[in-house]
Amino acid sequence: MFYDHFLNLLEGLEYKYNPKTVRADLEVQQQVLGMVFDKLQDIGVDDKLLNSAKRTLENNIEMINSTKNLKKLLRNIIGKNERILEHSMTTNMISQIILKKLSWDTHPSQMKISMAAFFHDILITEYDENIEKLESMTSYDKDKLRESNPKFFNHPLKAAQLVDKMKNMPPDVAQIISSHHELPKGKGFPKGLFGMRTAPMGCLFNTVHYFCVQCYTRGWGKTTIAIILKEMEADFYDRNYEKPYEALLKLFK
Ligand SMILES: [Fe+2]
Ligand SMILES: [Fe+2]
Repeated sequence: MFYDHFLNLLEGLEYKYNPKTVRADLEVQQQVLGMVFDKLQDIGVDDKLLNSAKRTLENNIEMINSTKNLKKLLRNIIGKNERILEHSMTTNMISQIILKKLSWDTHPSQMKISMAAFFHDILITEYDENIEKLESMTSYDKDKLRESNPKFFNHPLKAAQLVDKMKNMPPDVAQIISSHHELPKGKGFPKGLFGMRTAPMGCLFNTVHYFCVQCYTRGWGKTTIAIILKEMEADFYDRNYEKPYEALLKLFK
């Protein structure tokens, strides 16, 4: 089974339950959360919204770290690449803020988004320049991508299969993960789903994820952010993407 194989790999490669490692992992998670908080504060995100999202993330990180299999998965991200952790943390933080702005911020929804954010790129081992360039494309040539980089092409579905088999995983998380590279008007991958075929929570996550990848590729300056948001306008006023996109726009006004 893929999932068993993956867990066996983790057992072999990753940490033993050593209190020092556990402390170091938590420290890294808290440091990255602090860095993301500062970055978003610098670009003018409202303090009250930021503090509330930070509290949600702290609670969810604590929950993950008190659940053996989830803790192992999260540690695996840190062991591989801190940039994936930062990317996951930023997507998580902004998604929590958008949830609040849309008044969708129930505890189960906050938890689903956190799980999806932390584990969506669990199978990416190198967050290299090529992947970033691929993610920054507005329209994917799916056949080319499938052939040239099958591992990247399949990572949303594979990660979803893995997460779906885990105990303690809220429902819908696997679905959000499987569609995290889908985009409005069928421009994403792997399935090229249209806006009405992706659930509202998935569209929220995809909108924030796309925005974050763009910012990481092109920079977090206020002018760049305004350009990115403007470019998104042509596609994101579409079905389930519209409300999250509007909330994102207001966040940076
Ligand atoms: Fe990602
Ligand atoms: Fe991804």
